[in-house]
Amino acid sequence: MKRLCAALLALMLPTGCSADEVVAQPTLGGGPPIVIAHRGASGERPEHTLASYRLAIELGADYIEPDLVLTKDGILVARHENEISETTDVAAHPEFASRKATKTIDGVQVTGWFTEDFTLAELKTLRARERLPKLRSTDYDGQYDIPTFEEILTFLAQANQGRKIPVGVYPETKHPSYFTAIGLPHEAPLLALLDRFGYRGRTAPVFIQSFEVGNLKALRAKSDLPLIQLIDGEGGPADAPGTSYAAMASPAGLKAIAAYADGIGPYKELIIPRRALGTLGDPTSLVRDAHAAGLKVHPWTFRRENYFLPLGDKGGINPAGHGDLGAEIDAYLATGIDGLFSDNPREAVATVKKGSAK
Ligand code: G3P
Ligand code: CA
Repeated sequence: MKRLCAALLALMLPTGCSADEVVAQPTLGGGPPIVIAHRGASGERPEHTLASYRLAIELGADYIEPDLVLTKDGILVARHENEISETTDVAAHPEFASRKATKTIDGVQVTGWFTEDFTLAELKTLRARERLPKLRSTDYDGQYDIPTFEEILTFLAQANQGRKIPVGVYPETKHPSYFTAIGLPHEAPLLALLDRFGYRGRTAPVFIQSFEVGNLKALRAKSDLPLIQLIDGEGGPADAPGTSYAAMASPAGLKAIAAYADGIGPYKELIIPRRALGTLGDPTSLVRDAHAAGLKVHPWTFRRENYFLPLGDKGGINPAGHGDLGAEIDAYLATGIDGLFSDNPREAVATVKKGSAK
């Protein structure tokens, strides 16, 4: 049965096969896939805090992922977006009430408080809180500050002392064109810090990722560090109107990406779409096409709550309950992905290890 399932898969025909029945495809380099702790172990601690990154490392993640934005004084800090009301207690600080603003970021109107309107010293007075309080514990709210990228690299260097294989860092430039337009570009401080901490060359334990194209091309001109082009499930890069992510994910688009990047970070359903009822469908040719172009593939984002899992892997009807994340990840590992972003390195690491031991 395994042979038939693999043959159907290779022909892009519907297989109806379970993950166990499909012969797993190899990664690009043939090694084990990497687990990227998405915003740290963000399923268990408030995202983008040193506590979240620390737990991710304790749980065996291969890389930690900080999303990066800038402060008014040009310091790179870890936040998923420059508007910080969802993940900090800024709204409860009366001294910052007048900083509330409405801005257009990448064509979308956003109201709230923005990192670029705060000095680092001001941001440091805020405390992180859970983004998804209906799905996750809020026990750790109010305990941790916003880390700078420099603090993350310092922490990582300490965590890596004595390790044979260092835990890597996987920074994302958030809204790079927007920040460049307001005079706070990511590139120079990002490259300077990585260089200062010894990240040099194509084999350094770092991947720099972006949904935009221009900043990756600019980084490639200045650096040979590994780069990842993120590909969303819809729309296109904010800095390339007229270019769609769908076109970028085609064989011709992937070939173009390979001219400046080492891999892609696609929305996971571009690899295994869901059927109408929400079960996992059959894989597309994206992993095979990307590998043919010489690109690694690191899809996002794998989460254990029923709310996010495909029908078939849910563990009940409570959206905050936990289902079988390992089963979902197994289906993706069978396609030959080179790594995956997960909020739950606890489950992701165990699943990848189990797969590698087979
Ligand atoms: O960077 C990979 C993944 O994190 C992209 O989505 O929005 O969570 O940064 P986002
Ligand atoms: Ca990210």
